[in-house]
Amino acid sequence: MWGTVRVPGDKSISHRALILACLADGESAIRGILKSEDVESTAGVLRALGASVPPLSRSFTVKGSGIRALRQPRGGLQCGNSGTTTRLMAGVVAAHPIAAQFIGDESLSRRPMKRVAEPLGYMGARFDFAHGDGLPMTIHGTDLRSIDWDTKASSAQVKSAILLAGLVAGVEVRVTERSPSRDHTERMLRSAGVDIENDGNQVCLRPTTRLAPLEIDVPADPSSAAFFVALAALATAGELVLTHVCLNPTRTGFLDVMQRMGARIDVVEKTERGGETVASLRIRPSELRGAVVGGADIGSIIDELPLLACVAAGAGVDLEINGAEELRVKESDRIATVVHNLRAVGAEVDELPDGLRVHAGRRPLAGSIDPRSDHRIAMAFGVLSAATGNQITVTNPGCVAVSYPRFWEDLRMVSA
Ligand code: S3P
Repeated sequence: MWGTVRVPGDKSISHRALILACLADGESAIRGILKSEDVESTAGVLRALGASVPPLSRSFTVKGSGIRALRQPRGGLQCGNSGTTTRLMAGVVAAHPIAAQFIGDESLSRRPMKRVAEPLGYMGARFDFAHGDGLPMTIHGTDLRSIDWDTKASSAQVKSAILLAGLVAGVEVRVTERSPSRDHTERMLRSAGVDIENDGNQVCLRPTTRLAPLEIDVPADPSSAAFFVALAALATAGELVLTHVCLNPTRTGFLDVMQRMGARIDVVEKTERGGETVASLRIRPSELRGAVVGGADIGSIIDELPLLACVAAGAGVDLEINGAEELRVKESDRIATVVHNLRAVGAEVDELPDGLRVHAGRRPLAGSIDPRSDHRIAMAFGVLSAATGNQITVTNPGCVAVSYPRFWEDLRMVSA
């Protein structure tokens, strides 16, 4: 296992790049955007709202029409599989004089939207749900008022929905979280001239009338890089280099835990680019040991927890994850899906209400797994399938298209 990989652009930054570029006054330049189904969903929703978003490519410009210029769409807003599209755009739509129905695929339609409906409702928007608090959801946007919101769970999507609503409405908003969630929205807004203050678990956006155009160079997605970090650490020989990886401190939980578990990861060529820390990672085969992950660690590793469970099973070490009940409302119930599939390949795993426990045991893993259409589950088991000695088949491998369409090609390239 050898090679150098630049994994695709960061998904969180890519969604935000499109949204902010459309709200900006003038022409923004975007390079290195993630071309994937989720980001296409955001582009599609923005186009349906009258924004002019060109086809996504390596480098392109977006002519923004200003902060409150989106228009009433003709049909429903199709969000596909993307929670980020739905929740961030809910904030944007709620602050426009627009009535719009958000729709999505089966998985997205099951995910909870009350977490954005509550604060945005408090600000003055009206929400109609066809059933429960999932999609389809119709938002009747209006002039919003200011809010000081305490979120029950830490969620960058909820925080960003409120910040974007405040931005478009021209009102002050304050959000307090239990522990700080990823802060790309704040960084990008600040670089577009918005007065926004982060203080520990609290963020405050002050009213503005104009968003300056952005120059965005999207770094490689640390959540996608994580699969190759895991692959190299589990390997018996070789070395992998991952370039241009975004090392935003709210996203480095996986690297920290892997290092605690004994992974040999060197961070090289660290630089600051467009408000984010970017670096190359060199990873070598490692003798891993067990770990317990929970509490304040969870936020910065939430998307990588399925992979971490697979790493522990692949290395044959103990792992306990707790305090991660949010995993139950991701693209699938990621606790149930990981437990089911790890058992299907022969690992010993306990399911906990808020996490799981992997028991140490050294045996090759073999069997067929069903990712339940969840991209991160497919890729986590893809890593195990590429590790020496295992015989794992991933059904529905195409579901990786929402975040990393060329994952299997990259995996084959470095495993050759
Ligand atoms: C994201 C925030 C996280 C993360 C998701 C992307 C974002 O979700 O799991 O993959 O881009 O804001 P929550 O906000 O629900 O924690």
